[in-house]
Amino acid sequence: MKSIFINIKELIQVRNSQEAPIKGKDMSILPTLKNAFLIVDDGRISGFGEMSSCPDLSGFEVIDAEGKMLLPAWVDSHTHIVYSGSRESEFVDRIKGLSYQEIANKGGGILNSALKLNETSEEELFEQSAHRLEEVMKLGTGAIEIKSGYGLSFEGEMKMLRVIKKLKESYPAVIKSTFLGAHAIPNKYKTDRESYIDLLISELLPAINAQKLADFIDVFCEEGYFTVEELIRIIKAGQEYGLKAKVHVNQFSSLGGIKAACDHEALSVDHLEVLTDDDLEVLKNSETISVGLPNCSYFLGIPYTPARKIIDSGLALALATDFNPGSSPSGNMNQVVSAACIKMNMNPEESINAATINAAYAMDVHDQVGSIQKGLRANLILTTEMSTLDYLPYAFGSNMIDSVFINGEKI
Ligand code: NIG
Ligand code: FE
Repeated sequence: MKSIFINIKELIQVRNSQEAPIKGKDMSILPTLKNAFLIVDDGRISGFGEMSSCPDLSGFEVIDAEGKMLLPAWVDSHTHIVYSGSRESEFVDRIKGLSYQEIANKGGGILNSALKLNETSEEELFEQSAHRLEEVMKLGTGAIEIKSGYGLSFEGEMKMLRVIKKLKESYPAVIKSTFLGAHAIPNKYKTDRESYIDLLISELLPAINAQKLADFIDVFCEEGYFTVEELIRIIKAGQEYGLKAKVHVNQFSSLGGIKAACDHEALSVDHLEVLTDDDLEVLKNSETISVGLPNCSYFLGIPYTPARKIIDSGLALALATDFNPGSSPSGNMNQVVSAACIKMNMNPEESINAATINAAYAMDVHDQVGSIQKGLRANLILTTEMSTLDYLPYAFGSNMIDSVFINGEKI
């Protein structure tokens, strides 16, 4: 059955063809069609235009979008939604004055989640993760990247990646899987990090490759986690198996991870809360896309990724939630889009470009989602009635979603 949205107040993010992420000043341009229709056939966008050229409605399931906006579903290119339990006691510790790093140093943080995850059965882990995925789909996310990195053991990492595979098979959202074994050095390897890196490169990567369990590779390059040299070794090893790199760099310090990632043609560099002029120069000479994670800055009370510096330098920026139990226990992309406007000085057009088309580039799914183009998946958000699109990020905290469609099906 074909369906048709009619009387759409504004159809947002209409592109003809788009060969590259939207950069610099162009990020302020969000092409739209006013008073529009859009046809969905077999889960794909098969046509759209102004109401004046709307086809005869017979044979269509009709959705009247009078007063409402229709836009591509959010693309969340950086998450860790496969985890066990939660870490609200660390949240309270931070309120009492401890920093994220201090909490990690006393056994909390990523190692705390790894302990829980290794004690949780695969079935239970799937249930918890599926619940989070369903929650974010209802909030408008139609494509999502999910990382491993709370196993930190051969079995734990494999278990996480199998759960992501099962999520891919069980849900209609576009899902990409990232191997983040290099998220932290487990206690057992504290005095022998070389053996842990060897486990990642010589045992896990071949096993992951044999079962095709990952699309990307990630490393947390930070003081107390992985060095730039280790980042290079690990992403090169991933590349041998065809895994592009999407890396955690510059969250708390600038160590040279951006240059290393760009030199090795990483798909994205994520976090960048600390960004030096040298880092910016490197980004200007590379195709690697920057990803800001404002919910993490909000939750940890750390600086926001300097979006203005990045965009005003002519670069592309994407936005994601970083949904994880430690630094961003929220997968709400609506909130990310608002926070980018409120705290990163991005205008609504920039913010929406960053959360749709550019985010699709940051997870290599721009040929499937992230914009309104013929042939792309009908992963769509129908908003509630609103005066202008600016109202969407402005009304932070309100639910402005009427309904979400994935492959044309209302969820
Ligand atoms: O992206 N920084 C590294 N990894 C996550 C946080 C992980 C955690 O605290 O559990 C992040 O912020
Ligand atoms: Fe992260």
